[in-house]
Amino acid sequence: MNITILGAGAIGSLWACHLKEAGHNVSLWLRTPKISSHTLQLDDQTPLTFTTNDDTRLEQSDVLLITVKAWQVKEALLPLLDKLHTDTILVFMHNGMGAVEEVENELRHYPVVLATTTQAAMKPSLDKVNHTGAGQTQLGPFNAKGTQCQFLAEVFNHTLPDVFWTSDIQTALWQKLAINCAINPLTALEQCRNGNLAEARYSEPLRHIIQEVSEVMAQEGIPVSFSELNSKVYKVITATKDNYSSMQQDLCYQRPTEIDFITGYLCRKAQEHKINVPANQALYDEIKRIEHSWRTQ
Ligand SMILES: NC(=O)c1ccc[n+]([C@@H]2O[C@H](COP(=O)([O-])OP(=O)(O)OC[C@H]3O[C@@H](n4cnc5c(N)ncnc54)[C@H](OP(=O)(O)O)[C@@H]3O)[C@@H](O)[C@H]2O)c1
Repeated sequence: MNITILGAGAIGSLWACHLKEAGHNVSLWLRTPKISSHTLQLDDQTPLTFTTNDDTRLEQSDVLLITVKAWQVKEALLPLLDKLHTDTILVFMHNGMGAVEEVENELRHYPVVLATTTQAAMKPSLDKVNHTGAGQTQLGPFNAKGTQCQFLAEVFNHTLPDVFWTSDIQTALWQKLAINCAINPLTALEQCRNGNLAEARYSEPLRHIIQEVSEVMAQEGIPVSFSELNSKVYKVITATKDNYSSMQQDLCYQRPTEIDFITGYLCRKAQEHKINVPANQALYDEIKRIEHSWRTQ
């Protein structure tokens, strides 16, 4: 397949290398291309060279895999739509919810697929990517045209397993959002590893966060109980105990976080359902206050 990756960061580069290794024609669309090709080395494998920002390749794309951060989706994608064929399948792979809804109207002619992944990657330098944790990826339709793209799960599964298709991607996204709401803001504000949240002093704040999230999820029609969600959160805390969350890293390096699409999304949904979520609202306000303080420094 002809595949263009929009956002060759950690996750985009991981998929770019695996898709190219699997025999697909993969090109990259970078924010600021200085050269017409870009080399990426996955772990200690042979470096691979990719064409970059080639209009013809973009026009001929069967799939555009969008791996920018949630808050970058709109700015990155809208300028490309004029160049894309409306048969191109748009696959969004980022944390958080609400970013695709922001551009939903502009995407109505395209098949749109949403993805959530627990694969982990990092870029130690511009031309290197490390696969730091194996995980699972779920794909599912965002719109009616997207429902016809089930075959993509098989294509992606041959590339970087395990990949599953789900007709109910919203439930998968909410489950990931719930875990992100519990772990990300707290580890960011405490500047600690995920595993530190298992300490007794965090059990009360986590209980409030998870209780509120489960109430909002119930109103959204997502079947979940507090105890189920609570045990999932603690499983992830244990499984990723040595990791720093992406929001911890973003706050540490004074980069914009994805809070608007994680806790912010939850708070917006809570407001729609007239549910009070003081624990999550307080985390949201504090992260926004810190982000704002960088701009006024
Ligand atoms: N890394 C992981 O292990 C992991 C795991 C699961 C989920 N995720 C999620 O996946 C998403 C991507 O994460 P990431 O870690 O890969 O982030 P990242 O390394 O920051 O990658 C984002 C990439 O998008 C590029 N970009 C931003 N705006 C662009 C534009 N207008 N045009 C072209 N490229 C643009 C960035 O380029 P610049 O450097 O030029 O800004 C960067 O290379 C996030 O939602 C994250 O939460 C990540």
